[in-house]
Amino acid sequence: MTVLDARLPLVFTAVAIFYLCILYLPSGYYRSYADPEPTAHQFDYKNSSFDWASVSLRHPIAQFTSLPTESSSTLPLVQYDFASSTKKPSRARIKLIAERRSQVKAAFTKSWQSYKRHAWLFDELTPVSGHGKNSFGGWAATLVDSLDTLWIMGLKNEFYEAVAAVAQLDWADTKDTACNFFETTIRHLGGLLAAYDLSHEEVLLRKAVELGDMLYVAFDTPSHMPPFWFDFQKAKDGMLVAGNHDPSASVTSSSLEFTRLSQLTGDHKYYDAVTRVTRFLEDSQNFTRLPGMWPTFFDMQNVDKERIESGQTSLSWENGFTLGALSDSLYEYLPKMHSLLGGKDPVYEKLYRGATEVITEHILFRPMVRPSGQSSATNILFAGTVWVEDNGLRLDPEGQHLACFVGGMYGIGGKLFQEAQHVELGMKLARGCAWGYSAFPTGLLPEIFGLQPCSTAGPCDFEPHNGADHDSQQPLHSRMGFTHARDARYILRPEAIESIFYMYRITGEDDLLDIAWDMFQAIRQSTETELAFSAISDVTETGETAKLDSMESFWLSETLKYFYLIFSEPELISLDEFVLNTEAHPLRRPRSR
Ligand SMILES: *[C@@H]1O[C@H](CO)[C@@H](O)[C@H](O)[C@H]1NC(C)=O
Ligand SMILES: *[C@@H]1O[C@H](CO)[C@@H](O)[C@H](O)[C@H]1NC(C)=O
Repeated sequence: MTVLDARLPLVFTAVAIFYLCILYLPSGYYRSYADPEPTAHQFDYKNSSFDWASVSLRHPIAQFTSLPTESSSTLPLVQYDFASSTKKPSRARIKLIAERRSQVKAAFTKSWQSYKRHAWLFDELTPVSGHGKNSFGGWAATLVDSLDTLWIMGLKNEFYEAVAAVAQLDWADTKDTACNFFETTIRHLGGLLAAYDLSHEEVLLRKAVELGDMLYVAFDTPSHMPPFWFDFQKAKDGMLVAGNHDPSASVTSSSLEFTRLSQLTGDHKYYDAVTRVTRFLEDSQNFTRLPGMWPTFFDMQNVDKERIESGQTSLSWENGFTLGALSDSLYEYLPKMHSLLGGKDPVYEKLYRGATEVITEHILFRPMVRPSGQSSATNILFAGTVWVEDNGLRLDPEGQHLACFVGGMYGIGGKLFQEAQHVELGMKLARGCAWGYSAFPTGLLPEIFGLQPCSTAGPCDFEPHNGADHDSQQPLHSRMGFTHARDARYILRPEAIESIFYMYRITGEDDLLDIAWDMFQAIRQSTETELAFSAISDVTETGETAKLDSMESFWLSETLKYFYLIFSEPELISLDEFVLNTEAHPLRRPRSR
C-alpha cells in the first residue's frame, strides 16, 4: 500500500473542494489554490482624495471587448526541466550559488535601508548625497517598485512596513500637473499588481484599482489611444488628445498591466482599452515602411484602418526601426501577452511572428569579434537600428544596453511558439550583451556603443577600424571590436542580466550562472557608494569611476531581482506560473485546466 492509497479519500475531498471553489470564483479571476491567503494584517487605508472612477468620460465606449474565454490547449512549458535533468549540480556548487544569492540580497538590503533612512516615500534615493528626489509624481516610486522584490527575498517585515505606506498613498497628492502614462503604468501599477499577486494583501489591489481607474482615463481621447503625458486637469475635463509623434513603446506597453487588472477585478474595461491598441498594431503591421516592424514614433491621433491602408498616416513616412529606446517593450509584450492570456487570443502570436521574421533578417547582426585573452565569444549577436532610405535599408550597427532584453524575448517566444531557432537566437543575443560587459575596463556595457557588422554567414574576421591595429595602443574595447561608446554611462540597467536570467531558466545552461556572477561583481565594484549604488558616467574609465548620484527604481525592481532569481531555485517565480512586465513585476498567469 502506498502512502497515497491511505490518503485517497482526503485527496478526493480536497480536489472536490478545489473545483467547487473555482466554480464560484467570478469569471476572469484566476486565484490558485496554492497561493497564500490574505493575512490578518490590518492596514490603515486612506482613499485617494479624488475618485477617478467617477469621472464621466467624454468619449465613452458603447460595448467592452471581454477577456477571451474560449478554451485552448495548454501552452508549452517555458522553463527547462531542471527536476529531471541528469546534470545535477554538486553540493559545493549549490553552496557557491547560495553564497552568491546572499551577496545579491546584501546589495538589495543596503540600498533599501538607505532609501528608508534618507528618502522614505520619495521616488528615488540619491545614492551619493543621500537625499530624496521626486521624478515620477512623488508617489514613492522606489517603494512601490520594490514591494515584490522584498517579498521574493523573504524580507517580510520590510514588505509589510512598505504595504502600510502604500495603503496611505494618494494619487491626487502630487506637485506635478501630469504624469508619464508609460512609467506610471509599468512601475506603479505593475508593482502593485505583482505585489498583490504574490501576497494577496487586499489593500494592494485596492490601490491598484484606484490607480488603474486614473490611468484608464488616459484612453478617453478622440482616438481612444493614450497620450504620452497624462495631464490631470485635461483628463478631468475630457480634453485629453493622443499624441501625433509619441515613442511607440510608451503608448503600446500597458497591455499586460491592464489585462491583469481585468483578470483580477472581473471588470473588462481595462482589457477593452488595451485591445484597441492591439487592433491598431494589427492594422498597421503590414503597412509600415518596413512591414512586420513598427516605426519608432507613432501618430496615435490617426489610427483609422482605412487611412492606414491608404498611406495617409505617418506610418508611410516614419523610417527608423529599432528594438532599443522608444520601441523596446512594444515587441517584448507580444509573447508576454500570449503568456498572460494563456494563448487565448491568437493575434499576439501573429504579431510576434510577423515582427521577428523581419527583426531576424534585418535588425540582428553578428559583430566582428577579435577574441582577446580567455574570451572567445564568436557565436554572438546584437540588435541594431535600421533606416529605410530611398535606396534601400541601412543597418546602423549601434547597440544599446536597453536592447539587451531581446535575447529573453526570443527565448520566451521560442518556447511558447515552439520555434527552437528562436531559443538559439536568444542565447546568442544574451551572450552577446554579456560578452560586451567583459570588453570594457569596468566590466560594464555602456548605454550606447558601436560595433562593426559582419554578414550573417561566412567568416567574420576582425578588421581593425580606422587602420588602428597596434594592440597595446588601443583601449580594450577597441581591441575587441567596439568602434565607440557614444553614451558611456552605465545607469544600473537590468536588460543584460534579464536575458541571461531568461536563457538560464529556459535552457538550464550552467555557465550562465558564472557569467551572471561576473556581471554582478563588476556592477558592485564600479557603482557601490557608501549608502547604496549609483549610475556612473563612463564605463571605459579605469580606476575610480565617476558617480552620477542617481539610482533609478529599476535597480531594486529589476536588476537585483534578476540577479537574485538566477541564483535561486528555478521554482521561485517560475516562468510557467508568472510573466514579468517590462519593470520585472511578476504577474500570475492563469492556470490551464
Ligand atoms: C473610498 O472610496 C470608495 C470608492 O470610491 C468608497 O466606496 C468608500 O466609501 C471610500 N471610503 C472612505 C473611507 O472614504
Ligand atoms: C502580414 O502579411 C503576412 C503575409 O501576407 C500575413 O501572413 C500576416 O498575417 C499579415 N499580418 C497582419 C498583422 O495582418
